[in-house]
Amino acid sequence: MTDSTARSRERLAFALDFPSLGAAKDALARVGPEVGVTKVGLELFLREGPAAVRLGIDSGTDVFLDLKLHDIPATVERAVRSACQLGARYLTVHGCGGPAMLEGAAKAAVAENTGLTILAVTVLTSMGQEDLAATGVSDSPAEQVLRLATLATDNGVGGLVCSVQEVGQLRESLGPNPVLVTPGIRPAGADVGDQKRTGTPRGAIESGSSLLVVGRPIRDADDPVAAARAICAEIELAL
Ligand code: C5P
Repeated sequence: MTDSTARSRERLAFALDFPSLGAAKDALARVGPEVGVTKVGLELFLREGPAAVRLGIDSGTDVFLDLKLHDIPATVERAVRSACQLGARYLTVHGCGGPAMLEGAAKAAVAENTGLTILAVTVLTSMGQEDLAATGVSDSPAEQVLRLATLATDNGVGGLVCSVQEVGQLRESLGPNPVLVTPGIRPAGADVGDQKRTGTPRGAIESGSSLLVVGRPIRDADDPVAAARAICAEIELAL
């Protein structure tokens, strides 16, 4: 493996969206060597708990715990402290939880000092303009993403989750430091499913994304290893 292939893998997170540890383990045995990060989300964590995080760590990947916390500041702070003990590298909270919640999450992670980076979810990649309007937000997704991203970074949060469509704007406004994570990645021609603000692996990297999250385009492919390798090759070309 060349250095540039290794660097490309570090930019790819595979979403372990599986119903059981056994199914996640089988997929990871094949796909794990192709990716730098595994993402444990609600489906697997609610079923298997900390064992799901350990599975990712034992496979040699960083673990992204995608629990999208959204609660009062004291509860989120205490949940962040618990997440730190699991050994995760990233943990998501919702940016719309507000300044005190964001600050509390960031401070709790710094205090625990386990290397956990808090990622604030801006506007879910499954939401378009109309979905946002239905929640009472009349601004465009791009405006709301920028507002929540600025709120999060102003309150000490080190990373943000947004779509490929906004990542260039965030990189330009916020500079090189924030970790910018982009789900909703779809190789050209892939099924979008429930995602509305999508982009290609190449588009994500060229616009300044730090980490690309991919679930179904790998999980549901006829050959998941080949799908992961193709995405990695596209990342490598764009780097
Ligand atoms: O299957 P797909 O590639 O669409 O999966 C995207 C993954 O990223 C899912 O696990 C989803 O929960 C997660 N995610 C997202 N949008 C966000 C944050 C996380 O799609 N804003």
